[in-house]
Amino acid sequence: MKTKITKINRKKPEEKIIRAAAKIIKNGGLVAFPTETVYGLGADALRAGAVKKIFEAKGRPADNPLIVHICDEKMLAAVVKEIPEKAFPLMKKFWPGPLTIIFKKKNSIPDIVTAGGNTVAVRMPAHPVALALIEKTRVPVAAPSANISTRPSPTEAKHVYEDLKGKIPLILDGGHTRIGVESTVVDLTTKIPTILRKGKITSGEIKDMIGPVLLSTEKKEGVVRSPGQKYRHYAPKAKLILVSGGSAAVKKNIRKYPKNRVCVITFTERKDLYMKAYKTFIFGKRNDPLRAARSFFSLLRKCDEKNADVIIVETPPKNGVGDALIDRISRAAS
Ligand code: TXA
Ligand code: MG
Repeated sequence: MKTKITKINRKKPEEKIIRAAAKIIKNGGLVAFPTETVYGLGADALRAGAVKKIFEAKGRPADNPLIVHICDEKMLAAVVKEIPEKAFPLMKKFWPGPLTIIFKKKNSIPDIVTAGGNTVAVRMPAHPVALALIEKTRVPVAAPSANISTRPSPTEAKHVYEDLKGKIPLILDGGHTRIGVESTVVDLTTKIPTILRKGKITSGEIKDMIGPVLLSTEKKEGVVRSPGQKYRHYAPKAKLILVSGGSAAVKKNIRKYPKNRVCVITFTERKDLYMKAYKTFIFGKRNDPLRAARSFFSLLRKCDEKNADVIIVETPPKNGVGDALIDRISRAAS
């Protein structure tokens, strides 16, 4: 299959392009499209046969459920059995936006979407291209990140192409995504709402709206609540090391690999410090976690392009989206 990349205006998506993309999805095919977080790989969420193609293209384990994307709250009714009280303030404040909410699922959602479970993850993305595409198809769109499973999530159309070339018919190219880490996932089907994945919207912001929340790591019973969290993730080809403790610690780590190509991902302020590194990549200024989050996954792919053996990443500050970013870096390292 030939994979076409079509440039699309991210603010005012061209009607003709959206129509062609929607047609593919309505016919049971796959389309990769930009969201504000990362690129998604979309299929008609109501057709098991279409959704199956997502798992095949990504090489995704069948026990890892997908997020269903909607364009308005009317569509939510077609997907979920009930809307718990606490969902309303979250939807009002954060939708459209980088928040995924877990609800009890409606029977119309095929088992393959939810990996057989009775809950469904739903998100209304804040991206004109994503919204226009869902609106045009008039069905909820199941979409995981548009990468091969275990590879870093795609923040540019060319990343999707690298991973899925020949496996999908169309990639809509809306340029670099704005946020760069995947949505926050909050489960509202548990007694106390539980954050299953960190993202741009912090647990503090969610607490402010609905009161106490748990982090999934705080759960004691040892069940994996969000199957996606148990797999190796965001993995570059190189060995990745997360280093805190400033430039001395980074230099010490570089010296441990004298025979290897060591790439360092660091901050603008420190870019000239690591003379012994094979290559230095910049996150942006140290006090700008938004910028660091936006660039992290694409920097991992750049290190791969340079055939890095080892990637040393300097720990970003934990505030705001920094917390979610540290989570992604740690997973890439494990
Ligand atoms: O920002 C995003 O969320 C992007 C864009 C494309 O919207 N999508 C994304 O999808 O990151 P994916 O499939 O890469 O990650 C979905 C995560 C996985 O960790 C999965 O296990 C979890 O959400 N998930 C999906 N449905 C779930 C459910 N019913 N219960 C618990 N976790 C669920
Ligand atoms: Mg993913």
